Amino acid sequence: MPKRLASITGIQGYVPDYILTNKELEKMVDTNDEWITTRTGIKERHILKEPGKAASDMGKIMVEKLLEKTKTNPDDIELVICCTVTGDMVFPDTANTICYKTGIKNAFGFDINAACSGFLFGLTTGAKFIESGTYKKVIVVGLDVMSSIIDYTDRATCIIFGDGGGAVLLEPDESGNGIIDSVFHGDGSGREFLHMKAGGSLKPPSHETIDRKEHYVYQDGKPVFKAAIKGMVESIKEVMKRNGLTKEDINWLVPHQANIRIIDGVAEMLDFDKEKVMVNIHKYGNTTSGTLPLCLWEWEPKLKKGDKLFLTSFGGGFTWGTTYLKWAY
Ligand code: COA
Repeated sequence: MPKRLASITGIQGYVPDYILTNKELEKMVDTNDEWITTRTGIKERHILKEPGKAASDMGKIMVEKLLEKTKTNPDDIELVICCTVTGDMVFPDTANTICYKTGIKNAFGFDINAACSGFLFGLTTGAKFIESGTYKKVIVVGLDVMSSIIDYTDRATCIIFGDGGGAVLLEPDESGNGIIDSVFHGDGSGREFLHMKAGGSLKPPSHETIDRKEHYVYQDGKPVFKAAIKGMVESIKEVMKRNGLTKEDINWLVPHQANIRIIDGVAEMLDFDKEKVMVNIHKYGNTTSGTLPLCLWEWEPKLKKGDKLFLTSFGGGFTWGTTYLKWAY
């Protein structure tokens, strides 16, 4: 009998209504639609504009719809993990706020901050609680409100990021489908290339940090770009090798959506059929912890039970890795 795995038994995505187009960005910074489209693949991104709304409000919408869709009683949820770098507050965590707002009373929750790899790290962490037999129903949320930490006068970053994400329900599966393997890596020396300078214990907020615009995303794009392709390709190869798979065995490659040239680079280096690569960056930009669940949500109608998916990510930290799962429904 196959061992007990954790499988995704439902997914719900969400993006806020407001759409920030490349044309609108042209009026805000010195950029143009042609540059953004050819250099990143992004045409538009969704932005959370409603005053007073934050990460947990997006999480509430996703989780409520997920519970409804999977006909799950909130009382049965035992753990909620929220993967985000833009939680409502520095503390407490956003997972517990989502539980509070959705009437999930019998769960404990915590956040995972692994930038663009957050959702993958959270998915595998949640899966372990199911594989071990500890829990039967775990929710993993991956979302970000990147607009809350973006400087809309900095053309190097404001064109890239958007808001949104998704939530999945994990349940035990003994039919061989579910989360099978993950390879994850980290390299703290990468933090110099992608970070927020102030607001943490290193540089608590002050007038000076505000004046120096240190509460926004700082990115040196080129080193991140190169490391992202290498990290994703190598971790995909590692997972393929460990599981005795070739590219022909894989039905879908689900890459973190950071730049279409990164996605194409990864697909080309692995000689992957582009038809099998999920891409929606043109509509949402980089939603950090939100890109992978947003892809799964959009492709859900096309996925078939037993499909082999490779989810791969690279992000600030640096953090990166690949998860292999077999779709369960
Ligand atoms: N509009 C127009 N021109 C722009 C621009 C914009 N929004 N942003 C930068 N430029 C200019 C630069 O000033 C530079 O001009 P110069 O040659 O006169 O100096 C030129 O375009 C090239 O800039 P560069 O930064 O070298 O572009 P790039 O090809 O590296 O693309 C990124 C920039 C950020 C899109 C790219 O590096 C990237 O995607 N990096 C990885 C992002 C990522 O993965 N981030 C999250 C981690 S998951």
